[in-house]
Amino acid sequence: MTGNPARILVWDWAIRLVHWLMVILVPLLWWTAEEGHMEWHKGFGLTMFGMVLFRLIWGCIGTWTARFIPMVQRIGSLPSYLAKLRAQGYHPTFGHSPLAVLSVFALLLALTVQITTGLFSVDVDGLESGPLSVLVSFETGRQFAEIHEFNFNLLAALIGLHITAIAIYRFVLKEKLVRPMLSGRRPSSDFTNEQLPENRIRPIRMIAAIFIALACTLAVANFG
Ligand code: HEM
Ligand code: HEM
Repeated sequence: MTGNPARILVWDWAIRLVHWLMVILVPLLWWTAEEGHMEWHKGFGLTMFGMVLFRLIWGCIGTWTARFIPMVQRIGSLPSYLAKLRAQGYHPTFGHSPLAVLSVFALLLALTVQITTGLFSVDVDGLESGPLSVLVSFETGRQFAEIHEFNFNLLAALIGLHITAIAIYRFVLKEKLVRPMLSGRRPSSDFTNEQLPENRIRPIRMIAAIFIALACTLAVANFG
């Protein structure tokens, strides 16, 4: 159990940092690809690789609100959550709501596909390519590039849906979700009826997650 300070930690600093860096990097990745600044594109892409890998590891060993298993367990309460929304009985959730869990998984999956296919992509002239494309033939590298292009549209659609959902929460349900994503905290009075799980950062696990993500990023960047 956490104590009872006026404002309690919902999103740790790593979740927030990764999130807002992604918000900056995804448009930059699109723009650098459109303008043909491929060295920048690959650099930003590798940064995304490190961040998303960190987030996936943090989803296994991180704070309670970062972890995937409690999120999966929450999907079971989606029907009752939706029924409450319909009956205008909205109540804030500690961590991702059952509906948000679906969007988190969809976004992380689309990002993972985008990054993985980018690493193996080769462009039409075979001049621009991801660092792992040396492992595959030119034709396979082109197929990865096609999935990379197609999946970007999917990712953009999911991001559009994500932002629309947050706007609906803000203007229809009067729920300001962005503020806690910036400060990390919410008033503890939002969760008076709940037995809250411990949501503390364990420094050793944080260091391990950063170290693994960084080591893998450097290994991929210097591959071949
Ligand atoms: C490139 C665009 C974006 C991507 C890829 C993205 C991705 C994500 C992901 C993966 C999460 C889950 C956080 C985690 O558990 O690590 C999340 C949550 C969240 N995002 Fe975004 N996001 C984007 C844009 C935005 C924007 C522009 C806003 C603000 C308007 C925003 C507001 C939020 C909020 C408030 C949450 C927490 C939702 C909750 O309370 O459950 N996101 N986003
Ligand atoms: C979330 C991360 C990423 C996003 C949003 C993204 C987005 C894009 C977009 C929009 C294009 C242009 C597609 C087209 O119209 O042909 C592109 C092309 C490309 N990207 Fe990425 N990318 C990401 C990650 C990566 C990574 C990690 C790498 C490799 C390090 C990479 C390597 C490439 C290459 C080589 C191309 C050129 C493919 C071609 O010319 O057909 N990308 N990317």
